[in-house]
Formats: sequence, C-alpha cells, structure tokens
Amino acid sequence: MVGELPALGFADGQFQLSVCSHFLFLYSDHLTYEFHRLSVFEMLRVANEVRIFPLLTLMLEVSPYVQPLISELKSEGFAVSVEKVGYELQRGGNEMLRIQKAA
Ligand SMILES: C[S@@+](CC[C@H](N)C(=O)[O-])C[C@H]1O[C@@H](n2cnc3c(N)ncnc32)[C@H](O)[C@@H]1O
Repeated sequence: MVGELPALGFADGQFQLSVCSHFLFLYSDHLTYEFHRLSVFEMLRVANEVRIFPLLTLMLEVSPYVQPLISELKSEGFAVSVEKVGYELQRGGNEMLRIQKAA
C-alpha cells in the first residue's frame, strides 16, 4: 500500500513501531506545524511507538516545531524523549524523537 502523511491507510494500532526518517522536521520551512502535528498523531494512531529522525531542518538547526510538539504530546499523555543515536548524516543530526503511548 502506498500512502502519505498526514493520512495513512492503515488500521488503528496495526503496527508496533512507525518510523519517519528525513521528512518530518527536515522540511519545517515548507511544511506547517499543523502538518507535523497531524502527521505525528496519525503515526501514533497506527502504531504504539513513533520515532522521528533527525530533529534538524535543512538549515541544520533544530526544528522550531520540536519543543511545541513535545509539549503537546506530553499534555496528551504520551511518553516523549529525545535520544542520541549512533548515526549522523547532517552535521549535529544525531538525535531522534521517541513517542510512546502510555502503557
Ligand atoms: C529526504 S527523503 C528521505 C528518504 C528516506 N526516508 C531516508 O531517510 O533516506 C524524503 C522522503 O519523504 C517522502 N515523502 C514526501 N512527502 C511525504 C508524505 N506526505 N508522507 C510521507 N512521506 C513523504 C518522499 O517520498 C521521500 O522519500
């Protein structure tokens, strides 16, 4: 199946893990905060855990959407963490966002 954010053609909870690499956050200059918010909640609809990497924009800066999104997700009861990873394509881009549904 081919789909695209922010609407995925999968069932609720169909997957344990949903990953997004070099799409969300990277294009923050082109895609709105609302697009990011809807996309992350859609990924959380289809999976128990979401991981997004990296947190940088094309300008190698941490996306301005990261902190507001973390706050929103925490206020909705999700467990959210920023974790270092052992891979770095963009200089300084070695962190991922991990979001988990409450047990
Ligand atoms: C820079 S590439 C990253 C490819 C790969 N994930 C990686 O990390 O090497 C960005 C990807 O985002 C995908 N993409 C574009 N619009 C999308 C959308 N609305 N939903 C999901 N993926 C999308 C593109 O097809 C492209 O493969």
